[in-house]
Amino acid sequence: MKQITKIAVTLAIMAGLTMNLMAQNQRGQGQRQPGNRNRGGRAVVENIMTRTSIRSYTSQAIPADTIEILLKAGMAAPTAVNAQPWHFIAINSKEKLAELAGTNPNAGMLRQAPLAIAVCGNMNKAMQGKAREYWVQDCSAATENILLAAHAMGLGAVWTGVYPTDERVAAVSKVLKLPENIIPLCVIVIGHPAERPQPKDKWKPENVSYNEYGK
Ligand SMILES: Cc1cc2nc3c(=O)[nH]c(=O)nc-3n(C[C@H](O)[C@H](O)[C@H](O)COP(=O)(O)O)c2cc1C
Repeated sequence: MKQITKIAVTLAIMAGLTMNLMAQNQRGQGQRQPGNRNRGGRAVVENIMTRTSIRSYTSQAIPADTIEILLKAGMAAPTAVNAQPWHFIAINSKEKLAELAGTNPNAGMLRQAPLAIAVCGNMNKAMQGKAREYWVQDCSAATENILLAAHAMGLGAVWTGVYPTDERVAAVSKVLKLPENIIPLCVIVIGHPAERPQPKDKWKPENVSYNEYGK
């Protein structure tokens, strides 16, 4: 009888341990779910804080799989009602890059770069009426994602503005042969960095309020 009790107690302890381990395992899997903070969060914040515009590049080309990662990062951005009202054009032709340089007096670095991505709004996918303008925010979110992904992969990049400057929109549309419904927001110039500028410290507590303006 004593022996039977011992076996029963041992089995009960083993069952308890197994259940505990299973619960811990489930919690562990839960920690790997999207949205959880325990996934190299500090590295992500570090990447955001150390990004800075890079305007000088080596001649090294950017491989197709890297370009695809950048495009996927862009498309991972949030958009109003998840409309994804965008179109991305990756430009790695030297001639096209040089032509694009002529569309913006502040985008001469395009002549030196191996890659640019034009982030465009697709008005056929944008919302109707006043909400149509959300395309600018949607495409801006995509642009920042691409800038951060480039930095995370050791590349350098800079956002060059197109929309809402009419002449630039017209000039970029002509170079990239854009149909009427596609509006270029910006051209992101990308390459392997040939300069290492210090990231700017932009933290200004006076630009922040808590609960009410000015408090
Ligand atoms: C809407 C927008 C348009 C920009 N246009 C240009 C541009 O045409 N040429 C350029 O060299 N940089 C351009 N920039 C990059 C800014 O000059 C740069 O982000 C800013 O000086 C802050 O520096 P940082 O990116 O190193 O933090 C643009 C940035 C934004 C957000």
